[in-house]
Amino acid sequence: MDNYTDISTELCGMKLLNPTVLASGILGVSGSSLANVARNGAGAVTTKSIGIEQRKGHPGPVIITYDQGMVNAVGLSTSGIKESLAEIEYAKKHAGVPIIASVFASTVKEFGIVAKEISRSNPDLIEVNISCPNVEAEFGRPFGTDPKISADVTKIVKKNTRIPVIVKLSPNVGSIAQIAKAVVKAGADGITAINTAGPGMVISIETARPILSNKAGGVSGPAIKPIAVRCVYDIYAALKEMKKEDKIPIIGTGGVTYGNDAVEMFMAGASAVGIGTGVYIRGIDVFRKVSYEVKEFMGKENYGSIASMRGIAHD
Ligand SMILES: Cc1cc2nc3c(=O)[nH]c(=O)nc-3n(C[C@H](O)[C@H](O)[C@H](O)COP(=O)(O)O)c2cc1C
Repeated sequence: MDNYTDISTELCGMKLLNPTVLASGILGVSGSSLANVARNGAGAVTTKSIGIEQRKGHPGPVIITYDQGMVNAVGLSTSGIKESLAEIEYAKKHAGVPIIASVFASTVKEFGIVAKEISRSNPDLIEVNISCPNVEAEFGRPFGTDPKISADVTKIVKKNTRIPVIVKLSPNVGSIAQIAKAVVKAGADGITAINTAGPGMVISIETARPILSNKAGGVSGPAIKPIAVRCVYDIYAALKEMKKEDKIPIIGTGGVTYGNDAVEMFMAGASAVGIGTGVYIRGIDVFRKVSYEVKEFMGKENYGSIASMRGIAHD
Protein backbone atom coordinates (compact mmCIF):
# COMPACT_ATOMS: atom_id res chain seq x y z
CA MET A 1 0.00 0.00 0.00
CA ASP A 2 1.42 3.40 -0.86
CA ASN A 3 1.36 6.17 1.71
CA TYR A 4 0.10 8.76 -0.74
CA THR A 5 -3.38 7.36 -1.37
CA ASP A 6 -5.69 10.18 -0.33
CA ILE A 7 -8.67 9.00 1.73
CA SER A 8 -9.88 12.48 2.68
CA THR A 9 -13.34 13.55 1.59
CA GLU A 10 -15.65 16.54 1.71
CA LEU A 11 -19.06 17.06 3.28
CA CYS A 12 -20.80 20.38 2.57
CA GLY A 13 -17.51 22.27 2.37
CA MET A 14 -16.01 20.50 5.44
CA LYS A 15 -12.91 18.45 4.90
CA LEU A 16 -12.80 15.03 6.60
CA LEU A 17 -9.37 13.42 6.90
CA ASN A 18 -10.99 10.04 6.32
CA PRO A 19 -14.49 9.06 5.13
CA THR A 20 -15.75 7.31 8.30
CA VAL A 21 -18.47 8.99 10.38
CA LEU A 22 -19.88 7.86 13.72
CA ALA A 23 -23.61 7.24 13.05
CA SER A 24 -26.20 8.82 15.33
CA GLY A 25 -27.29 6.96 18.47
CA ILE A 26 -24.06 5.11 19.15
CA LEU A 27 -21.65 6.53 21.78
CA GLY A 28 -22.92 9.99 20.90
CA VAL A 29 -24.56 11.33 24.05
CA SER A 30 -21.63 13.01 25.80
CA GLY A 31 -18.94 15.31 24.45
CA SER A 32 -16.19 13.19 25.99
CA SER A 33 -17.54 10.05 24.31
CA LEU A 34 -17.64 11.84 20.93
CA ALA A 35 -14.04 12.98 21.45
CA ASN A 36 -13.06 9.41 22.33
CA VAL A 37 -14.58 8.10 19.08
CA ALA A 38 -12.62 10.78 17.19
CA ARG A 39 -9.41 9.60 18.92
CA ASN A 40 -10.25 6.14 17.59
CA GLY A 41 -10.12 7.32 14.02
CA ALA A 42 -13.55 8.67 13.02
CA GLY A 43 -13.37 11.38 10.33
CA ALA A 44 -16.48 13.05 11.83
CA VAL A 45 -18.86 12.23 14.67
CA THR A 46 -22.65 12.49 15.01
CA THR A 47 -24.46 13.05 18.30
CA LYS A 48 -27.38 10.90 19.37
CA SER A 49 -30.56 12.57 18.12
CA ILE A 50 -31.42 15.54 20.33
CA GLY A 51 -34.96 16.73 21.05
CA ILE A 52 -36.23 19.81 22.87
CA GLU A 53 -37.30 18.27 26.14
CA GLN A 54 -35.75 15.54 28.22
CA ARG A 55 -37.29 12.22 27.17
CA LYS A 56 -36.92 8.81 28.72
CA GLY A 57 -37.36 6.54 25.70
CA HIS A 58 -38.69 3.00 25.99
CA PRO A 59 -38.10 0.77 29.03
CA GLY A 60 -35.56 -2.05 28.57
CA PRO A 61 -34.67 -4.23 26.88
CA VAL A 62 -34.13 -1.73 24.06
CA ILE A 63 -31.45 -3.53 22.05
CA ILE A 64 -31.09 -7.15 20.97
CA THR A 65 -28.30 -8.53 18.83
CA TYR A 66 -28.75 -11.48 16.48
CA ASP A 67 -26.48 -13.27 13.99
CA GLN A 68 -26.58 -10.61 11.29
CA GLY A 69 -27.10 -7.42 13.23
CA MET A 70 -29.20 -5.71 15.81
CA VAL A 71 -32.80 -4.71 16.50
CA ASN A 72 -33.31 -1.61 18.64
CA ALA A 73 -36.19 0.41 20.01
CA VAL A 74 -34.40 2.93 22.22
CA GLY A 75 -37.31 5.31 21.62
CA LEU A 76 -35.16 8.45 21.19
CA SER A 77 -34.17 8.99 24.80
CA THR A 78 -32.58 12.43 25.11
CA SER A 79 -31.36 14.67 27.87
CA GLY A 80 -32.91 17.62 26.05
CA ILE A 81 -31.45 20.62 24.34
CA LYS A 82 -29.92 22.47 27.30
CA GLU A 83 -27.61 19.67 28.39
CA SER A 84 -26.82 18.77 24.80
CA LEU A 85 -25.51 22.25 23.97
CA ALA A 86 -22.74 21.89 26.56
CA GLU A 87 -21.84 18.41 25.26
CA ILE A 88 -21.54 19.69 21.67
CA GLU A 89 -19.42 22.62 22.81
CA TYR A 90 -17.12 20.20 24.65
CA ALA A 91 -16.85 17.96 21.57
CA LYS A 92 -16.12 21.00 19.36
CA LYS A 93 -13.18 21.87 21.61
CA HIS A 94 -11.77 18.40 22.11
CA ALA A 95 -12.70 16.08 19.24
CA GLY A 96 -10.62 17.74 16.51
CA VAL A 97 -13.03 16.49 13.80
CA PRO A 98 -16.31 17.92 12.44
CA ILE A 99 -19.27 17.53 14.81
CA ILE A 100 -22.67 16.65 13.35
CA ALA A 101 -25.60 17.46 15.64
CA SER A 102 -28.55 15.14 15.02
CA VAL A 103 -31.97 16.55 15.87
CA PHE A 104 -35.49 15.17 16.03
CA ALA A 105 -38.88 16.62 16.92
CA SER A 106 -42.48 15.53 17.09
CA THR A 107 -44.00 18.32 15.00
CA VAL A 108 -42.81 20.23 11.93
CA LYS A 109 -42.82 23.48 13.93
CA GLU A 110 -40.74 21.96 16.72
CA PHE A 111 -38.05 21.02 14.16
CA GLY A 112 -37.58 24.75 13.56
CA ILE A 113 -37.17 25.40 17.29
CA VAL A 114 -34.71 22.58 17.87
CA ALA A 115 -32.63 23.65 14.83
CA LYS A 116 -32.45 27.23 16.08
CA GLU A 117 -31.51 26.15 19.62
CA ILE A 118 -28.89 23.60 18.58
CA SER A 119 -27.21 26.16 16.32
CA ARG A 120 -26.18 28.09 19.45
CA SER A 121 -23.56 25.40 20.12
CA ASN A 122 -22.23 25.89 16.58
CA PRO A 123 -21.98 22.29 15.32
CA ASP A 124 -20.33 21.89 11.90
CA LEU A 125 -23.42 20.24 10.40
CA ILE A 126 -26.99 19.54 11.48
CA GLU A 127 -28.46 16.13 10.67
CA VAL A 128 -32.25 16.08 10.66
CA ASN A 129 -33.64 12.75 11.79
CA ILE A 130 -36.99 12.38 10.01
CA SER A 131 -36.61 8.64 9.85
CA CYS A 132 -36.73 7.04 13.29
CA PRO A 133 -39.08 4.07 12.95
CA ASN A 134 -39.96 4.09 16.67
CA VAL A 135 -41.41 7.56 16.85
CA GLU A 136 -44.66 8.61 15.30
CA ALA A 137 -44.90 12.09 13.91
CA GLU A 138 -47.88 14.38 14.33
CA PHE A 139 -49.67 12.71 11.44
CA GLY A 140 -49.14 9.17 12.74
CA ARG A 141 -46.15 7.98 10.63
CA PRO A 142 -42.47 8.92 10.60
CA PHE A 143 -41.99 12.29 8.83
CA GLY A 144 -39.63 10.68 6.34
CA THR A 145 -42.33 8.53 4.77
CA ASP A 146 -44.04 11.51 3.09
CA PRO A 147 -42.29 13.73 0.51
CA LYS A 148 -44.30 16.87 1.33
CA ILE A 149 -43.80 16.61 5.11
CA SER A 150 -40.11 15.77 4.58
CA ALA A 151 -39.77 18.92 2.48
CA ASP A 152 -41.67 21.01 5.06
CA VAL A 153 -39.31 19.84 7.82
CA THR A 154 -36.26 20.61 5.65
CA LYS A 155 -37.56 24.09 4.83
CA ILE A 156 -38.27 25.03 8.44
CA VAL A 157 -34.87 23.76 9.61
CA LYS A 158 -33.09 25.68 6.83
CA LYS A 159 -35.01 28.82 7.79
CA ASN A 160 -33.82 28.54 11.38
CA THR A 161 -30.09 27.95 10.91
CA ARG A 162 -27.11 29.03 8.82
CA ILE A 163 -25.35 25.72 9.44
CA PRO A 164 -25.44 23.21 6.55
CA VAL A 165 -28.30 20.72 6.88
CA ILE A 166 -28.16 17.01 6.13
CA VAL A 167 -31.44 15.10 6.10
CA LYS A 168 -31.44 11.48 7.25
CA LEU A 169 -33.79 9.27 5.26
CA SER A 170 -35.66 6.06 5.99
CA PRO A 171 -35.44 2.97 3.78
CA ASN A 172 -38.98 2.04 4.79
CA VAL A 173 -40.67 3.87 1.93
CA GLY A 174 -41.90 3.10 -1.58
CA SER A 175 -39.39 5.39 -3.29
CA ILE A 176 -36.46 6.83 -1.35
CA ALA A 177 -35.44 8.72 -4.53
CA GLN A 178 -38.71 10.64 -4.41
CA ILE A 179 -38.12 11.67 -0.78
CA ALA A 180 -34.50 12.60 -1.60
CA LYS A 181 -35.62 14.83 -4.48
CA ALA A 182 -38.21 16.51 -2.24
CA VAL A 183 -35.71 17.37 0.52
CA VAL A 184 -33.05 18.55 -1.95
CA LYS A 185 -35.60 20.81 -3.66
CA ALA A 186 -36.48 22.10 -0.18
CA GLY A 187 -32.85 23.10 0.42
CA ALA A 188 -31.08 20.10 2.02
CA ASP A 189 -27.29 20.42 1.71
CA GLY A 190 -26.68 16.67 2.06
CA ILE A 191 -28.35 13.32 2.71
CA THR A 192 -27.66 10.51 5.15
CA ALA A 193 -29.05 7.15 4.06
CA ILE A 194 -30.21 5.07 5.78
CA ASN A 195 -31.76 4.92 9.22
CA THR A 196 -32.75 1.47 10.50
CA ALA A 197 -34.90 -0.84 8.38
CA GLY A 198 -38.05 -2.69 9.30
CA PRO A 199 -39.34 -2.57 11.93
CA GLY A 200 -38.18 -6.08 12.84
CA MET A 201 -38.79 -8.43 15.73
CA VAL A 202 -36.84 -11.07 17.65
CA ILE A 203 -38.79 -13.61 19.73
CA SER A 204 -37.29 -15.46 22.68
CA ILE A 205 -38.22 -19.09 22.15
CA GLU A 206 -37.72 -19.78 25.85
CA THR A 207 -40.28 -17.22 27.02
CA ALA A 208 -42.31 -17.28 23.78
CA ARG A 209 -42.42 -13.46 23.79
CA PRO A 210 -40.80 -10.69 21.72
CA ILE A 211 -37.55 -9.69 23.48
CA LEU A 212 -37.78 -5.91 23.11
CA SER A 213 -40.17 -4.17 25.49
CA ASN A 214 -41.47 -2.25 22.46
CA LYS A 215 -41.83 -5.66 20.72
CA ALA A 216 -40.56 -4.32 17.37
CA GLY A 217 -37.55 -2.15 16.56
CA GLY A 218 -35.27 -0.88 13.81
CA VAL A 219 -32.93 -3.40 12.17
CA SER A 220 -29.27 -2.43 11.66
CA GLY A 221 -25.93 -4.05 10.89
CA PRO A 222 -24.67 -6.34 8.09
CA ALA A 223 -28.17 -7.67 7.30
CA ILE A 224 -29.31 -4.29 5.99
CA LYS A 225 -26.21 -3.40 3.95
CA PRO A 226 -27.68 -4.42 0.55
CA ILE A 227 -30.75 -2.28 1.29
CA ALA A 228 -28.54 0.66 2.27
CA VAL A 229 -26.36 0.30 -0.85
CA ARG A 230 -29.45 0.21 -3.08
CA CYS A 231 -30.88 3.30 -1.35
CA VAL A 232 -27.62 5.24 -1.83
CA TYR A 233 -27.57 4.11 -5.47
CA ASP A 234 -31.16 5.31 -6.03
CA ILE A 235 -30.50 8.65 -4.30
CA TYR A 236 -27.33 9.27 -6.34
CA ALA A 237 -29.27 8.50 -9.55
CA ALA A 238 -31.93 11.01 -8.47
CA LEU A 239 -29.24 13.63 -7.75
CA LYS A 240 -27.74 13.00 -11.19
CA GLU A 241 -31.13 13.53 -12.76
CA MET A 242 -31.31 16.87 -10.94
CA LYS A 243 -27.68 17.64 -11.96
CA LYS A 244 -26.87 18.05 -8.26
CA GLU A 245 -24.64 15.06 -7.63
CA ASP A 246 -21.54 17.25 -7.30
CA LYS A 247 -23.21 19.59 -4.84
CA ILE A 248 -25.02 17.18 -2.52
CA PRO A 249 -22.98 14.61 -0.58
CA ILE A 250 -24.45 11.33 0.70
CA ILE A 251 -23.34 9.69 3.96
CA GLY A 252 -23.89 5.99 3.15
CA THR A 253 -24.96 4.29 6.37
CA GLY A 254 -26.20 0.78 7.11
CA GLY A 255 -24.13 -2.31 7.76
CA VAL A 256 -20.73 -0.78 7.04
CA THR A 257 -18.33 -2.96 9.00
CA TYR A 258 -15.26 -3.50 6.76
CA GLY A 259 -13.39 -1.42 4.21
CA ASN A 260 -15.02 -3.26 1.31
CA ASP A 261 -18.47 -2.26 2.57
CA ALA A 262 -17.37 1.38 2.51
CA VAL A 263 -16.02 1.01 -1.04
CA GLU A 264 -19.40 -0.40 -2.16
CA MET A 265 -21.07 2.69 -0.69
CA PHE A 266 -18.68 5.05 -2.53
CA MET A 267 -19.28 3.22 -5.81
CA ALA A 268 -23.05 3.53 -5.23
CA GLY A 269 -22.65 7.29 -4.75
CA ALA A 270 -21.64 8.02 -1.14
CA SER A 271 -18.98 10.61 -0.21
CA ALA A 272 -18.57 9.23 3.32
CA VAL A 273 -19.85 6.27 5.35
CA GLY A 274 -21.70 6.16 8.66
CA ILE A 275 -20.83 3.38 11.08
CA GLY A 276 -23.11 2.38 13.97
CA THR A 277 -23.53 -1.33 14.61
CA GLY A 278 -19.97 -1.86 13.31
CA VAL A 279 -18.75 -0.33 16.58
CA TYR A 280 -20.36 -3.22 18.49
CA ILE A 281 -19.01 -5.79 16.03
CA ARG A 282 -15.36 -4.64 15.65
CA GLY A 283 -14.82 -2.31 18.61
CA ILE A 284 -14.48 1.44 18.93
CA ASP A 285 -11.44 1.54 16.63
CA VAL A 286 -13.57 0.24 13.73
CA PHE A 287 -13.08 3.71 12.18
CA ARG A 288 -9.31 3.34 12.04
CA LYS A 289 -9.64 -0.23 10.77
CA VAL A 290 -12.13 0.65 8.00
CA SER A 291 -10.02 3.65 6.91
CA TYR A 292 -6.94 1.46 6.69
CA GLU A 293 -8.82 -1.17 4.68
CA VAL A 294 -10.22 1.45 2.28
CA LYS A 295 -6.73 2.86 1.75
CA GLU A 296 -5.35 -0.62 1.17
CA PHE A 297 -8.04 -1.34 -1.47
CA MET A 298 -7.45 1.98 -3.21
CA GLY A 299 -3.71 1.40 -3.35
CA LYS A 300 -4.17 -2.09 -4.77
CA GLU A 301 -6.76 -1.02 -7.37
CA ASN A 302 -5.14 2.32 -8.22
CA TYR A 303 -7.86 4.67 -7.04
CA GLY A 304 -6.28 8.00 -6.09
CA SER A 305 -9.15 9.51 -4.12
CA ILE A 306 -12.57 8.78 -2.63
CA ALA A 307 -14.05 11.12 -5.26
CA SER A 308 -12.61 8.93 -8.03
CA MET A 309 -14.71 5.99 -6.77
CA ARG A 310 -17.91 7.96 -6.12
CA GLY A 311 -20.87 6.79 -8.17
CA ILE A 312 -18.82 4.68 -10.58
CA ALA A 313 -21.25 1.75 -10.28
CA HIS A 314 -23.71 3.83 -12.33
CA ASP A 315 -23.87 3.58 -16.13
C1 LIG B 1 -28.81 1.46 19.32
C2 LIG B 1 -29.07 2.36 18.17
C3 LIG B 1 -29.54 3.66 18.39
C4 LIG B 1 -29.77 4.53 17.31
N1 LIG B 1 -30.20 5.80 17.57
C5 LIG B 1 -30.34 6.68 16.52
C6 LIG B 1 -30.68 8.04 16.76
O1 LIG B 1 -30.80 8.51 17.90
N2 LIG B 1 -30.83 8.84 15.66
C7 LIG B 1 -30.66 8.40 14.36
O2 LIG B 1 -30.81 9.19 13.42
N3 LIG B 1 -30.32 7.10 14.12
C8 LIG B 1 -30.16 6.26 15.17
N4 LIG B 1 -29.79 4.95 14.91
C9 LIG B 1 -29.59 4.51 13.51
C10 LIG B 1 -28.12 4.55 13.10
O3 LIG B 1 -27.59 5.87 13.18
C11 LIG B 1 -27.91 4.00 11.68
O4 LIG B 1 -28.61 4.82 10.75
C12 LIG B 1 -28.44 2.57 11.52
O5 LIG B 1 -28.17 1.82 12.69
C13 LIG B 1 -27.80 1.85 10.32
O6 LIG B 1 -26.39 1.85 10.43
P1 LIG B 1 -25.54 0.62 11.05
O7 LIG B 1 -25.98 -0.62 10.35
O8 LIG B 1 -24.10 1.00 10.81
O9 LIG B 1 -25.85 0.58 12.52
C14 LIG B 1 -29.56 4.07 15.98
C15 LIG B 1 -29.09 2.76 15.76
C16 LIG B 1 -28.85 1.91 16.82
C17 LIG B 1 -28.34 0.51 16.54
